[in-house]
Amino acid sequence: MELRLTQDGTPTLFHPGYGEAYHPRQGALLQARRLYLEKTLTHLHPAPRVLEVGFGLGVNFRVALESALLRGVRLSYLAVEREPLPKEVLAQIPLPLPRAEAVFAELLRAWPTSRFQGPWGELRLFFLDVREVALPARWATAVFLDPFSPRANPEAWSLPVLIKLRRSLKWGGRLATYSAQSAFRRALLLAGFRVHRVRGVGKREWTVGIAREAPPG
Ligand SMILES: C[S@@+](CC[C@H](N)C(=O)[O-])C[C@H]1O[C@@H](n2cnc3c(N)ncnc32)[C@H](O)[C@@H]1O
Repeated sequence: MELRLTQDGTPTLFHPGYGEAYHPRQGALLQARRLYLEKTLTHLHPAPRVLEVGFGLGVNFRVALESALLRGVRLSYLAVEREPLPKEVLAQIPLPLPRAEAVFAELLRAWPTSRFQGPWGELRLFFLDVREVALPARWATAVFLDPFSPRANPEAWSLPVLIKLRRSLKWGGRLATYSAQSAFRRALLLAGFRVHRVRGVGKREWTVGIAREAPPG
């Protein structure tokens, strides 16, 4: 996999199988902060519980962790990842987040691990396909939906997966994603979300779903 620098100076990888990079060229850190952290209001939550689809390089995890550490709140993070990267690869993706990087260095010593805890909180990892995983009900305050694009990685955006994510969110919890695809937005609505188009940074629109409608079934 080829290492690339994004425009905010943070690195990403290009995955030849999907034909896409793990992060947008405008910035890996930029997207993690402005979209996943802020559009789910995780940066303000007193006890954030994040569910992520696609742990990848752990950029979103480290951004959420840095925010929690700076604010002195406990982070619970549950990530689903069917293709975990080797630790030697993850070690090549440094981020300018000093507090989170110290924790991430410890995580890499134990990698791959399904549970990692510290005074900062807990990370649980399910090394499975999101279609197969059993998720806790009404658990998450936020969902970071971050697979590759609906075109390259359609199964991760399917209605059954979105219903599963909706069931795992607490009422009022927020799902954020970079995709603005209309078929995906229709499925999000059917899964029991209020769907909001939000202005993107470096991209015209992102999508936020708020768990305010009941999930089907
Ligand atoms: C865009 S990258 C995620 C970047 C990551 N969130 C970060 O902060 O670095 C997409 C990730 O989703 C994972 N993925 C794709 N389809 C999946 C599926 N069906 N189940 C679980 N993980 C999946 C890929 O292996 C990849 O690591």
